[in-house]
Amino acid sequence: MRYSERPAKQFLFNLLRKKFALSRERQIGLDVACGKMIFRPWFETRRYIGVDLDAGRIREGREKYPEAEGVVCAMEEMDPALRGDFVACIQAIGINSHFDPGNTLACVRKLAEATNEGGILIFNAGLPDGSSGEKIEALLRPHFASVEAVPYGAFNAPIGRPAAYVMAQAMNVLPFLRTVAGERRVLYTCTGRKHAA
Ligand SMILES: C[S@@+](CC[C@H](N)C(=O)[O-])C[C@H]1O[C@@H](n2cnc3c(N)ncnc32)[C@H](O)[C@@H]1O
Repeated sequence: MRYSERPAKQFLFNLLRKKFALSRERQIGLDVACGKMIFRPWFETRRYIGVDLDAGRIREGREKYPEAEGVVCAMEEMDPALRGDFVACIQAIGINSHFDPGNTLACVRKLAEATNEGGILIFNAGLPDGSSGEKIEALLRPHFASVEAVPYGAFNAPIGRPAAYVMAQAMNVLPFLRTVAGERRVLYTCTGRKHAA
């Protein structure tokens, strides 16, 4: 399990712990914006490929997980041949300071294209003010059999790990707490990638 001092992030980690079970027995795991590959142990795929624009982070990840493959590039520039059966992109789109929010839709399209037929795509995104995320969903729906969007983002200030854990549990059972105020984020789980035209 990963722990955070921020309830919103802890809520995300709790959900992701379950979602990553979908990677079991799949061939290629693609961790886009992998950072130091902290999610490496959560991938139950036969291969793991981490992609990040920060060469130092890729190096650190590979020092810890020597069997991991690493690719240094921006997701915007990913080679179309770089594809996975379980693709994840966590804490990057519309969230990380190195990410250009103007590239949100282009990157979501890129992630969908990087998902093999029958595959799964999981990512979270920070929504800019005034955006409902409708454009992201409209882009995804034609390409997947199912698209689940879980909005969250409230309570993103650090309050210490024990309190954040309790708050995240409350957010799990009382959905209004996830969006009552503060930042607006969405966790997307897309399954059943359709045949790419
Ligand atoms: C907050 S870290 C998250 C790392 C990892 N996904 C995790 O959750 O532990 C965000 C990462 O996104 C990477 N990043 C930001 N924009 C990117 C882009 N356009 N293409 C590839 N990586 C990007 C950063 O270099 C950084 O390593």
